Amino acid sequence: MRILHVASEIYPLVKAGGLADVIASLPAALAKRGLDVRVLLPGFPGILNGMLGLKPVIRIGPAFGAAVITIYIGSLPDSGLLAYVIDAPFLYQRQGNIYVGFDGFEWSDNHRRFGLLGWVAAHVASGELDPDWRPDVVHAHDWHAGLAPIYMAQNPGLKTASVFTIHNLAYQGIFPMDCLADLGLPMRQLTPHGIEFHGMISFMKAALVYSKKITTVSPTYAREIRTPEFGCGLDGVLRDRAGDLSGILNGVDPEIWNPEDPDIARPYSADNLKGKMACKLALQSELGLSNQAEGPLFAVVSRLFSQKGMDLLLAALPDLLREGAQLAVLGTGEDYLEEGFRHAAAANPEKVAAFVGYDEAMAHRFFAGADVLLVPSRFEPCGLTQLYALRYGTLPLVHRVGGLADTVIDATPGNLQSDSATGFVFDDVDRQAISDSIHEACTLYRDQIAWHQVQRRAMEQDFSWDDSAAHYEALYRSL
Ligand code: ADP
Ligand code: GLC
Repeated sequence: MRILHVASEIYPLVKAGGLADVIASLPAALAKRGLDVRVLLPGFPGILNGMLGLKPVIRIGPAFGAAVITIYIGSLPDSGLLAYVIDAPFLYQRQGNIYVGFDGFEWSDNHRRFGLLGWVAAHVASGELDPDWRPDVVHAHDWHAGLAPIYMAQNPGLKTASVFTIHNLAYQGIFPMDCLADLGLPMRQLTPHGIEFHGMISFMKAALVYSKKITTVSPTYAREIRTPEFGCGLDGVLRDRAGDLSGILNGVDPEIWNPEDPDIARPYSADNLKGKMACKLALQSELGLSNQAEGPLFAVVSRLFSQKGMDLLLAALPDLLREGAQLAVLGTGEDYLEEGFRHAAAANPEKVAAFVGYDEAMAHRFFAGADVLLVPSRFEPCGLTQLYALRYGTLPLVHRVGGLADTVIDATPGNLQSDSATGFVFDDVDRQAISDSIHEACTLYRDQIAWHQVQRRAMEQDFSWDDSAAHYEALYRSL
């Protein structure tokens, strides 16, 4: 069975968030099961520079405002899987963020930049771009690839099925109606049953209406997005398609997120946690935090946005400090949150550290060195950092929502005997609930025997891709 994954990010070449991690590891996990998997990516500089053995397949264009477009094929650096890359310099050869221009606004031609991605996917499906390889299923991810199913639907003879995965419903790819002309889609699609959304065009809605099957990245989020509270205006569409919508949890690449990795201060395992203390001391020293704190070291590795509940965490920070705990933050995002954490660090240099920036290697040192990882998200489709934390015996403290609810089991006192607790889970997303949960974590931390028990259990959890890849395979076969 041949599967084409279509997405805008892939670790380690271009990454804005967890989508990149999934696109690096899910296709590889499917290939391990014997499927013939390829990936289609836009030719951002990081992708063209990082792929191996690129060879031209076909030259097309002009299209989508680009005069010259070349489709290349080459190998991905880690998995060695084959990927098609759309080299359209006019659209993709830009410095800075792949979605947002230097003025802080989304690139004004994003509808063309990502419309082209879906359009090329449909033409790979039809065999016109590479007659040697035609996929049975096109699997598109997030709004950036969201037009693939509607372009496929323009070709009535096409047998290829489409699957669309929602990684985050809050980002929808919404554009003014007159953009339709640039996308080459017929006017008749512009109805509330098609891609029209409150007088605009929505790539996300097009995907939800036209794909054969819809998945999202956790079972709980699959239920939540059918409600007005989490549906971002599309809950009605998702309720209509409930029979075709399922939640499949993301996995972790156990080679990349591995406490036995020699790159951290001292590798360790569930059987021998001594190295974890060395990692904590090393992280404290690196960040200028005191080595003497009586409480646990809490950490954040996150985009700093209100989705992630970072404003609530800032509000709860005085309570965390009163517990004698420390906080280390690694993140970038909204100015007021970056400033807020910087300010807190300057006011409490031995207790709070804020590294405002993006740094993969440092993220590993955070997961290894911290005692608790804070993920107080307002909503969280899956969340990967809590899964990485579990691998390192760093107990996640999370809001019971989306994938966080599906992956962390609460260890607050009443639940400790359950033999299954792996972290701390709170129900209300407000300062008090976070502070109470921080208090529970600090209380358990004082009982080091119980703490180690939960740590070991956390490290034994299996969130590798094996199960989830089997679910995707079953879904493809059902098509
Ligand atoms: P989201 O995709 O919503 O940002 P996820 O938890 O799914 O959330 O994935 C976030 C990914 O980005 C993880 O791989 C995490 O380690 C990484 N990450 C987030 N912020 C940073 C940062 N400042 N430095 C390094 N890695 C980061
Ligand atoms: C999105 C979501 C996150 C999820 C990731 C990968 O960025 O916000 O929860 O883990 O996609 O699926």
